[in-house]
Amino acid sequence: MADILDRFESDDHSEKVVTGGPKLRVGIIGCGWIAEAHILGYKKLPNVEIVAACDLIPGKAEALFEKCGITSGVNFYPSDEAMIAAEKLDLVSVCTYNRTHASCTIHALDAGINVLCEKPMCVTLDEAVEMCKAEKRSGKLLTIGFQPRYDLNMKEIKKIVESGALGKVYYIQTGGGRRRGIPTPYGTSFIQDDTAGIGAMGDIGCYSLDMVLNAIGYPKPLTVTGFKSDYFGKRPDNYPTHPEYAEVFNVDDFAAAFIRLEGGIVLDFRIAWAMNIDSPGDTIILGTEGGLRIPATRDWNGTTGGPMLLYHEIAGQQVTTEIPLLKNPFSSCFEEKLRDTVECVINNRPAPVPTSQIIINQAIIDAIFRSERAGHEVTVEIPEI
Ligand SMILES: NC(=O)c1ccc[n+]([C@@H]2O[C@H](COP(=O)([O-])OP(=O)(O)OC[C@H]3O[C@@H](n4cnc5c(N)ncnc54)[C@H](O)[C@@H]3O)[C@@H](O)[C@H]2O)c1
Repeated sequence: MADILDRFESDDHSEKVVTGGPKLRVGIIGCGWIAEAHILGYKKLPNVEIVAACDLIPGKAEALFEKCGITSGVNFYPSDEAMIAAEKLDLVSVCTYNRTHASCTIHALDAGINVLCEKPMCVTLDEAVEMCKAEKRSGKLLTIGFQPRYDLNMKEIKKIVESGALGKVYYIQTGGGRRRGIPTPYGTSFIQDDTAGIGAMGDIGCYSLDMVLNAIGYPKPLTVTGFKSDYFGKRPDNYPTHPEYAEVFNVDDFAAAFIRLEGGIVLDFRIAWAMNIDSPGDTIILGTEGGLRIPATRDWNGTTGGPMLLYHEIAGQQVTTEIPLLKNPFSSCFEEKLRDTVECVINNRPAPVPTSQIIINQAIIDAIFRSERAGHEVTVEIPEI
């Protein structure tokens, strides 16, 4: 059994890093927390050189590169626009807070630069539409940084659905969250509307949506009834070392929604940065021929909380089959996302996590907040790009 799985793993990872030839000239936009993982990941790729970086906060980019052990060969700029105007780049990582994902991505695409934009895609559906238009007029690659897509267990969920083992899927329950865990790793950029725009929804909710929507082929959403709350973020005891953060918190720390999708599928969703329970429950996918249970993690970390269970029938008997956890053939999904993006740019392949899918993810997030404001169900319309 292990042998067979190993063989599948190595097949899945058949495309290796290309060496030789000119290196991709990469720029980093936004030099905060996640930029460090981009810099360290790119450093390991022989076909990449990071030549430029920028941040709105003076000295921040320089300090991060020094921390990452890069002390020469990089030009620093005070904004994405200054960097894009001055440099000839092949690819940028947009590592800014959510509010500037759209503007930085559009500036780069309009300058003919390929873009890996961190998740969530942006804040509103209107921004997502503008990003897709920029992608189309540029002819360049735009991929969104959902690294759990590379996890073999996540791929297994999609394979199970596509195999027909579940029959027609009609109901999905998904989401996740933490008992306590409002992220303030380096300040308040996750918890303030003018930087994050969306809270738990944009931090971890978009991942939960992607896990199940990708598995079922991203059907279009039709209607959404959404709810959000902020009962924890405004409590000083959630920030033991920085109680003052409670005063500036103004995003969601919990969101829930009932989403009708094309094809007669209902998606029941909830996500929390903080709540008075350990987990909002497993993900379940119900179909006419089978059901899949994906155990919750104690946190959202982009994988399953244990072996998945497939509930089905064999020769009229109700059977439960355990799907063993698969070991990834690489050290980190995050590094794999960088490697794959670079390969796609070099080989002129389509975006690994395409905007044609993630605009649907963003449309649902947008509709949850519209519904919350309206106090009732809203319809979802995604314009043709
Ligand atoms: N994929 C993952 O695992 C993962 C993990 C953490 C964060 N993220 C995402 O990464 C993004 C950034 O998160 P973070 O924690 O690094 O934020 P952060 O606040 O630590 O860093 C963002 C930086 O971007 C800079 N910035 C904003 N607009 C800019 C512009 N126009 N030009 C230049 N610099 C600009 C800010 O000054 C700030 O230093 C968020 O969207 C978050 O959701 C992804």
